[in-house]
Amino acid sequence: MSTIANAVSPAIASKPDARSSLTTLKGLLPFLSPYKRQFVLAGIALLFAAGATLAIPYAFKQMIDLGFGAAGAKSTEHIDFYFLALFGVATVLAVSTAARFYAVSWLGERVTADIRSAVYRHVVTQSPQFFEITRSGEVLSRLTADTTLIQSLVGTSISMALRNAVLFVGGLGMMFFTSVKLAAIIIVLLFAVILPIIMFGRRVRTLSRDSQDRIADASAVAGEILNAMPTVQAYTHEKIEADRFGISVERAFATAIRRIRARSVLTVLAIVLVFGAIVFVLWLGAHAVMEGNMTGGELGQFILYSALVAGAVGALAETLGEAQRAAGATERLLELLAERSPIQSPAQPQALPPRMQAGASLALQDVTFKYPSRPQSASLSNFTLNVEPGETVAVVGPSGAGKTTLFQLLLRFYDPQQGRILLDGVEIRDLDLHVLRNAIGIVPQDSVIFAADAMENIRYGRVDATDQEVIVVAKMAAAHEFIEKLPDGYKSFLGERGVRLSGGQRQRIAIARALLKNPPLLLLDEATSALDAESERLVQSALEAAMAGRTTLVIAHRLATVQKADRIIVLDDGRLVETGTHASLVAQGGIYANLAALQFHGK
Ligand SMILES: Nc1ncnc2c1ncn2[C@@H]1O[C@H](COP(=O)(O)OP(=O)(O)OP(=O)(O)O)[C@@H](O)[C@H]1O
Ligand SMILES: [Mg+2]
Repeated sequence: MSTIANAVSPAIASKPDARSSLTTLKGLLPFLSPYKRQFVLAGIALLFAAGATLAIPYAFKQMIDLGFGAAGAKSTEHIDFYFLALFGVATVLAVSTAARFYAVSWLGERVTADIRSAVYRHVVTQSPQFFEITRSGEVLSRLTADTTLIQSLVGTSISMALRNAVLFVGGLGMMFFTSVKLAAIIIVLLFAVILPIIMFGRRVRTLSRDSQDRIADASAVAGEILNAMPTVQAYTHEKIEADRFGISVERAFATAIRRIRARSVLTVLAIVLVFGAIVFVLWLGAHAVMEGNMTGGELGQFILYSALVAGAVGALAETLGEAQRAAGATERLLELLAERSPIQSPAQPQALPPRMQAGASLALQDVTFKYPSRPQSASLSNFTLNVEPGETVAVVGPSGAGKTTLFQLLLRFYDPQQGRILLDGVEIRDLDLHVLRNAIGIVPQDSVIFAADAMENIRYGRVDATDQEVIVVAKMAAAHEFIEKLPDGYKSFLGERGVRLSGGQRQRIAIARALLKNPPLLLLDEATSALDAESERLVQSALEAAMAGRTTLVIAHRLATVQKADRIIVLDDGRLVETGTHASLVAQGGIYANLAALQFHGK
């Protein structure tokens, strides 16, 4: 458990910082492009708002120079007109700002929702190999925490940035219009000032990615432990686990603080440098007014525009920080999206031949397989097996012999490094994954129960099955009786992971589910857990019902099961070592005879 938990996912492992910061955000374009219309609307609203903002200082200047400056009959009229105009501008500002806020927030929410769905849709197609190394809590954190950053980027930061960019450019233009000399000086100073700001922005991005990674770590720790609460409490590890989570959280905090510190420095840098430059220029302007080269109104207008420009620069620096953060998050999400499952359907899948008999035929030819995470040792070696349609083959062997591995290969959760596997004569690599897996019913070693009622849990086998069909298979699987006795019958909620059922009951639900699928090939991984005699008998009769009329491979731990099989194969250390019936194998006195003496004794 811990080795898996500590392994760093290749999907999410740190990569050298080759790409320059904000270009990562280009990866978001496919998610933004469907909403061109909304962007245009937001853009229009934004231009109106910025235009209104930019008109205000001009109105001010008119008021000062024409209204107050020149005494005379016209001045009252002027004042009235410009105050009215000012109010008009404010109204435009209000409406367009609200429109911009609406359009842009809508975009933020929409794009985030799309990204969440896309990432989840992608993750659920990954092969088990992906889930061996990526912790589910980590993926969840990517889906929630990282996408939230993108939401704030699209929903706020982009519009802030655009708005301030427009204000910046417009304000600067108006400053030139007011005084070329002062504006030119400001431009030169601003360029000198922006370089260090950008350099610092890069650092914020790296720290932000680290910070998101630490949050994902903490989620992964919590996710794993919350799924194992009974074990944690049985071993009285509550404090240990709480501390472990605490350490993760503290690590996330420490990384976040480093990011925040970097951003604070960025803010100080931006504001001091930019305001410094502007104050310096204003000081020059004040002298110009005193020397009569400029009117008071012009300086006032210039001051207001420089305040706008300075505010815009400050806000841009702020949004740059936000964008860097979002870039870090985007990078991770895009890496997740770029992850290709090693198991893919072929481009031109073959069809399964029409089935003549009940049950599928199955052939494994010289199959050798090593788990990708354990390339030194083969879990199956030179494994050859032919199964006739309708045959029931019991697979026995010591723990770790490779029995469950065999099933994983049949379902094509992994591809063997050597050899071929054929279903009804077609190599399974040439079949569409869904066609292959639809032909196989599996009852796993530990049954999975979803947080839903009994009816829905069985219906998982075939989503379009009617209630009546569900009840029929439940009866076959000896599950009907106990389900009826639950407080709400088939509508009883079974609890997350089926915590409200016994082990034997969970198994019978899983068997009913596989039966509902009515597959030509059935794979049963018998639970090793000891059941009481009554449950054992019920599960056994459920299994027998399941095997009838189809090809079945059953990993057997019970004498009753092996005795029902047409053939028994014995696996040891990934090799097929013995084949025969119970009687013939016991007579051989090999591995099976030993296993049988130990395992089936007294049953
Ligand atoms: N995902 C995995 N990655 C690496 N090695 C694995 C993985 N799953 C199983 N193994 C290894 O492969 C070997 C065969 O495992 P398998 O699960 O097939 O055993 P089994 O015969 O089903 O045992 P049991 O009766 O205990 O269920 C074991 O040595 C096991 O440690
Ligand atoms: Mg197993």
